[in-house]
Amino acid sequence: MKAIILCAGEGTRLRPLTYTSAKHLIPIANKPVIFYSIEAIAQAGIRELGIVVSPHREEEFKQTVGDGSRWGIEISYILQPQPKGLAHAVACAHEFVGREPFLVYLGDNLLENGVADFVRAFEREEATASIVLYEVEDPRRFGVAQLQDGQVVRVIEKPAEPPSNLAIVGVYLFDEKIFEAIREIKPSWRNELEITDAIQRLIDKGYRVMPHLVQGWWKDVGKPDDLLQANRLLLERIVTHIDGEVDSRSRVQERVQVAQGAKIINSELRGPVVIGEGALIEDSFIGPFTAIGPRVRIRHSEIEYSILMEGSQIEGIGRIDRSLIGRNVVISKKDRRPEVLSFVLADNSQITLL
Ligand code: G1P
Repeated sequence: MKAIILCAGEGTRLRPLTYTSAKHLIPIANKPVIFYSIEAIAQAGIRELGIVVSPHREEEFKQTVGDGSRWGIEISYILQPQPKGLAHAVACAHEFVGREPFLVYLGDNLLENGVADFVRAFEREEATASIVLYEVEDPRRFGVAQLQDGQVVRVIEKPAEPPSNLAIVGVYLFDEKIFEAIREIKPSWRNELEITDAIQRLIDKGYRVMPHLVQGWWKDVGKPDDLLQANRLLLERIVTHIDGEVDSRSRVQERVQVAQGAKIINSELRGPVVIGEGALIEDSFIGPFTAIGPRVRIRHSEIEYSILMEGSQIEGIGRIDRSLIGRNVVISKKDRRPEVLSFVLADNSQITLL
């Protein structure tokens, strides 16, 4: 079985971060979002993966993700020339997939327990498609499925009146009949070819579509707050591992990872926290659910429940909370009165508070 990860979406709800980086490459718990789905696919025993990207992001993906050798798999890049929807993205991968059954993974989805169980079940159950579902309180911003006698009888994209609480998670398994269904659907109100409509087309044609409920958590990271929540969920499962230097004046509580070359000087780290390679934390407090990227420098500051990306510098800031800070951002403050600040900052931003 092959897999494709769809990453051609523009990530408009994560602007300005997505002006300079694809949302799938934004780090959470110090690893790009897409690495978690690649790991899940490799763990499910799939060895050939196609990543569907928009042409202007191709280089960025190739540089960050590479050829797959670090996961022992083979990665190809497939272009989706225009953002015409998820079903269109799947159609772009037709040649790569060939005639075999395949897995589709939306690149902004994270699943606590991976995808191996869904793959095994699909191999057993002789269905045309299998979709993954998660019970949510308000499913109106997702695709929604209706079940009857253990099968999917209806799927509908972002319904105003959902027929159930079962949101469609961005993981699907298909056989080649999906390509025929995609050819038969029309663009939706948002002018996209919806994968949900193609699945409905399969149902209408009398094919078997099977549901699978997610065990553990599921998160799709479309908005800043989703990234921070996913960061929290992923940090919750880290184990302490200290490769860098923590001086005798510093205090480390709970689970903390400090990567090689990082230095913690006269500071308090209250985990779960990850500190990237070569970072410097001096006279500062790093609170729970914070990911500090490689070569970040933090001095005389407090940071909690935040993501700071590579190369950023924070100096003299009372407290930063619930913030997403891009690469090489500089925030500094001369006068040290305490206050609370909250940001979403893209790469190369600079803030100086005087
Ligand atoms: C897409 C699918 C939707 C699904 C969701 C899961 O929505 O169209 O059915 O529930 O992903 O992340 P989108 O993120 O394109 O709005």
